[in-house]
Amino acid sequence: MRLHALKVLAYALLSVALPSTAHPYQQKYDLQKFHIDLDSRRMVDLIRQTRLPKKPEYPDLRATAGIDLDVLKSMQKQWVTSFDWPKEQASLNGFNHFTAHIEGLRIHFIHEKASDPDAIPLILCHGWPGSFLEFEPIIKSLAEQAQTSTNKSISFNVVVPSLPGLAFSTAPPANWTIDDTARVYHTLMTKVLGYKTFAVFGTDWGCGPSFGLYRDYTASTRAAHFAFIPFLPATSEELKSDNITLNSLEAFEEATSEAWLTTGAAYFAEHSTKVTRIPTSSYVGSINIWLMLTA
Ligand SMILES: *[C@@H]1O[C@H](CO)[C@@H](O)[C@H](O)[C@H]1NC(C)=O
Ligand SMILES: *[C@@H]1O[C@H](CO)[C@@H](O)[C@H](O)[C@H]1NC(C)=O
Ligand SMILES: *[C@@H]1O[C@H](CO)[C@@H](O)[C@H](O)[C@H]1NC(C)=O
Repeated sequence: MRLHALKVLAYALLSVALPSTAHPYQQKYDLQKFHIDLDSRRMVDLIRQTRLPKKPEYPDLRATAGIDLDVLKSMQKQWVTSFDWPKEQASLNGFNHFTAHIEGLRIHFIHEKASDPDAIPLILCHGWPGSFLEFEPIIKSLAEQAQTSTNKSISFNVVVPSLPGLAFSTAPPANWTIDDTARVYHTLMTKVLGYKTFAVFGTDWGCGPSFGLYRDYTASTRAAHFAFIPFLPATSEELKSDNITLNSLEAFEEATSEAWLTTGAAYFAEHSTKVTRIPTSSYVGSINIWLMLTA
């Protein structure tokens, strides 16, 4: 009898102890539920205080020279006067948000699980200037049961992290690289969330870490889809020295790439090398926050 009572006690203690020992990763990475609090008064103040130029410097160029001033003015007006911030916040909080601490960074992410235990884990990597909101319209549908073209049922456990330094993820040290983000995303998928294998999709800058996952973590990254390939074609000098001749489509793509490098990549150089020295950084920063809220 006494032995039995002790056994019961032991089991009781064990079952109390289990939740903490059963999820060692969650403890190690401090996995927490996260609730978005936009503080709408602060958002409105920030946007109201953003002084836009009175008139465009180059009116004839309009949107070809950057965002059109009239568009920006009307967005500012809408966000200050009629935008329903509490409704937006409630809609964002309709997703399951979490934070985890990985390599000293707080990483924010959405994790929407499908009901099917065989659902495919899928990490969606957003770019810049953007945010997890890029994927807002598709997250729920990907987690729902659907049919493939061959009538197999399919659904996804969708994970959408915020890039380090964007939205609710903390900023990395200055020497941080895209491959560091790939490693953190790999830790998030395999260690924090416990997925042995997963698929990845990336857009824009999100293609950098997505490609890193595809290249360096082949045991766990089993499928990859990129909205752009995060490297450039060879220059015409390189093609020449390698004796490579291009067909007409390749030549067109080569010309497009060279034109972009010549006239379209200034912001890229600026943000790659002088990120804290952009005179308009606060202006860009405000617009970034605005953009984040308008997917
Ligand atoms: C899938 O199901 C649809 C509707 O039931 C059917 O018309 C189609 O032929 C099926 N496709 C395959 C590949 O079995
Ligand atoms: C990068 O910077 C951090 C913090 O300043 C430092 O701890 C780390 O050793 C650096 N990493 C490399 C690879 O230099
Ligand atoms: C390219 O062609 C030239 C002339 O035929 C040759 O000398 C050179 O080695 C070739 N280069 C490569 C990389 O194949």
